Amino acid sequence: MSIEKIILVGGGGHCKSVIDVIESEGKYEIAGIIDVKEKIGSDILGYKIIATDDQLSDLVKQFRNFHITLGHIKSNAVRVKLFNDLKSKGAHFPVIKSPTAHVSKHTDCGQGTIIMHYAVVNAGTVIGENCIINSRALIEHDAVIANHVHISTGAIINGDCRVCQNVFVGSGSVISNCICIIDDCIIGAGSVVIKDILKAGTYVGNPVSIKK
Ligand SMILES: CC(C)(COP(=O)(O)OP(=O)(O)OC[C@H]1O[C@@H](n2cnc3c(N)ncnc32)[C@H](O)[C@@H]1OP(=O)(O)O)[C@@H](O)C(=O)NCCC(=O)NCCS
Repeated sequence: MSIEKIILVGGGGHCKSVIDVIESEGKYEIAGIIDVKEKIGSDILGYKIIATDDQLSDLVKQFRNFHITLGHIKSNAVRVKLFNDLKSKGAHFPVIKSPTAHVSKHTDCGQGTIIMHYAVVNAGTVIGENCIINSRALIEHDAVIANHVHISTGAIINGDCRVCQNVFVGSGSVISNCICIIDDCIIGAGSVVIKDILKAGTYVGNPVSIKK
C-alpha cells in the first residue's frame, strides 16, 4: 500500500528536523521541498528541492498534503503568509507527531502543527494551527497555544497558560502557571516568565524584562 505524499515548504535547518520526524512517523512520503530558485535541483537529506513558492498554485493541484518547514525565531511573517496562501488554495495540512512525543488523547491540535521528538503535550491542552512544538518542549495541562506559535526546544509552558498568536518562546524558557503572553512576543532563550506579558515585544532574563 502506498503512503500519502507531502510537500515541505522551506529548506533550512528546521526542515531537516522536520524530515527526521516525518521519517520516524512513517505516515507520509516526502515528495519534494519548496525553496528559492537558486536551490532547485539540490537536495536536503536526500529530498530534492523541486520548486519555488511562485509555483504553489500548480503544486496544490498535484499534491494534497503540505507542511511549512520554514523556521520561526524573530519573525514568522513568511511562515504565516505561506500557510494562509496554501490553505486558501485548498492545501491540506496534517498534524505531524513524532512517535517519541507524548500527546495526550485529551488535547486538540490544529492543522499544520508539528509535535517534535520527545515533546510532551498534556491533557486538556489546545494547540492552534501551524505551530511548532519543538523537541523536548513541555506543554502542561490546560495550556492554550494559539496559531503560528513556536515553543522551542526544551521550553516549559506550565498549566493553564495562554500563549497568543505568533509568539516565539526560546529554548529552555520556563513560563510559570496561569500566565498570559500576548500576540507577537519574543521570549529569549533561557528566560523565566512569572507575570503576564500584555505588551508585544522581546523579553529576556530571569525574571524577564523587555529588551530595549
Ligand atoms: C532574544 C533574541 C531573539 C534576541 O536576539 P537579538 O535581537 O539578535 O539580540 P542580541 O544577540 O543582539 O542581544 C542584544 C542584547 O540582549 C541580550 N540577550 C539576547 N538574548 C538574551 C537572552 N536569551 N537572555 C538574556 N539576554 C539576552 C544580549 O546579551 C545583548 O545584551 P547587551 O546589549 O547588554 O550586550 C535571541 O537572543 C534569542 O534568545 N533567540 C532564541 C534562540 C532560541 O531559543 N532558539 C531555539 C530554536 S529551536
